[in-house]
Amino acid sequence: MEFLNEIDRRRTFGIISHPDAGKTTLTEKLLLFGGAIQEAGAVKSNKVKKAATSDFMEIERQRGISVTTSVLAFNYCNKKINILDTPGHKDFAEDTYRTLSAVDSVIVVIDVAKGVEEQTKKLVEVCRMRSIPIIVFINKLDREGKDAFDLIDEIEIKLKLNITPLTFPIGMGYEFKGIFNIWKNKVELISDKKTNDKLDKIIYNSIENEQLKNYIGIDLIGKLKDEIELITEVYPKFKIKDYLSGKLQPVFFGSALKNLGVQDLLDCFIDIAPKPRSKECDTRLVKPEEKSFSGFVFKIHANMDPKHRDRVAFVKIVSGVFKKNTPYLHVRKNKMYKFSSPNTFFAEKKEIINTSYPGDIVGLHDTGNFKIGDTLTEGEKIKFKGIPSFSPEHFRYINNKDPMKTKQLEKGIIQLMDEGVAQLFFLNLNNRKIIGAVGLLQFEVIQYRLLNEYGAKCDFENINVYKACWVDIEKADQIEIDEFKKIKQKFLANDKNGKLVYLADSYFSLEMTKEKYSSIKFYNSSEY
Ligand code: G4P
Repeated sequence: MEFLNEIDRRRTFGIISHPDAGKTTLTEKLLLFGGAIQEAGAVKSNKVKKAATSDFMEIERQRGISVTTSVLAFNYCNKKINILDTPGHKDFAEDTYRTLSAVDSVIVVIDVAKGVEEQTKKLVEVCRMRSIPIIVFINKLDREGKDAFDLIDEIEIKLKLNITPLTFPIGMGYEFKGIFNIWKNKVELISDKKTNDKLDKIIYNSIENEQLKNYIGIDLIGKLKDEIELITEVYPKFKIKDYLSGKLQPVFFGSALKNLGVQDLLDCFIDIAPKPRSKECDTRLVKPEEKSFSGFVFKIHANMDPKHRDRVAFVKIVSGVFKKNTPYLHVRKNKMYKFSSPNTFFAEKKEIINTSYPGDIVGLHDTGNFKIGDTLTEGEKIKFKGIPSFSPEHFRYINNKDPMKTKQLEKGIIQLMDEGVAQLFFLNLNNRKIIGAVGLLQFEVIQYRLLNEYGAKCDFENINVYKACWVDIEKADQIEIDEFKKIKQKFLANDKNGKLVYLADSYFSLEMTKEKYSSIKFYNSSEY
């Protein structure tokens, strides 16, 4: 019974946004309102967005300290909330995609002035594809921005969502007075003391309140009433089951900086957000309520200290109870491991735990045994799905610059790839190694880390690759396969798991190839 209660109270989610929309500020304010921290500014920002390529050392330093902000957990209203951090920098987009495999829902933050931005589009698409329940938070209402209805339209069109507002702003920018909570029918106003204190709010339980009318003026009240009427007529009625199945997305308005709308968001989140969901593995659907423990690694964090090449593997618990010092099967290695000091994360601290439940994230100390996507169980040989690789944007040959350190280089490359820093391909023709990365930044990071952590020197050589496509020839016509392999020989490679990949040199040649070899299947991701 206690086990089922523990599952019921877990809420594991991620906050996603384009850099600068206010993800860090909102995260911090959720912790503040949730009582996990006492003052704003207590959580170290791990954002790397402002750094240019030349600042990669700074980026790595920041990534080094971000172990503690990778998961921010706290208890609120008898719920255990786990917020998973997602890097905003586009060069670390793969990290974010992988983290999305471990969340049960997301909050998307949108800047009221900028509207839907590029990074948000990509991330929301991944969530939509996986039917992850989405809540939208429109931030920075204390600044002038787009008209609320126009913005809702923009979100519906650009993000392909079906929106219904649960709160609505009263004024905006200089005129911003507060938030009307449609869900609870109450009004939260900025007090005129301008203290930014989270409790320094004026709350009215009805829009008809006389004092409220005096406070914000008859004009704004009239406008608000019209807007609410319009919302009731035009937008779908909010139903939890539609939100949970990904058919409907509630939208909230607020100002994370001014603490407005955050309480509404948090309280509603507690009411509606999903408890840990079941997860597909290669053979079946694994339910959180199953007695037997299972989990998977979605993130590996390197320790930046070159003297200790150890790492933290972040495991999302899918089913059963995870216990300290208990042997578990590392399915890929077919070997039992036990963990004497698994970490859990509380607010900005990490602590050693004895037991963890589905929805929780545990940090396991790792000396190089784990890869992203690895599954741990009590003995069952399963592999969880949902951590695909996507085609990198940039490709380079990697060359060894110090023959005396060949072994170190090999080991370093493999370990960095296991961490998910970039992807490795082996060209079929000559077995040369090609590194594919989402951003150019990764090449500098790899070079720096290979030298500093493994003592290995390398450089990179340009190669003309437009996209990597995973190729499925299983059901293809044998004559086509033979011709494809012969003609495209110099463009074929294997990924780190031995899967066949076509490295197309241009959009044109990719399309031509797909057309010509129509019985062969080409995929944009490694999980097909
Ligand atoms: P990110 O994690 O999504 O990248 O965004 P972050 O929270 O760092 O916010 C980006 C900038 O926007 C910060 O200002 C932050 O203070 C500001 N901001 C966040 N929420 C609000 C809001 O509700 N209203 C207003 N007006 N600003 C907001 P900065 O000057 O870039 O950084 P800082 O010096 O304030 O840290």
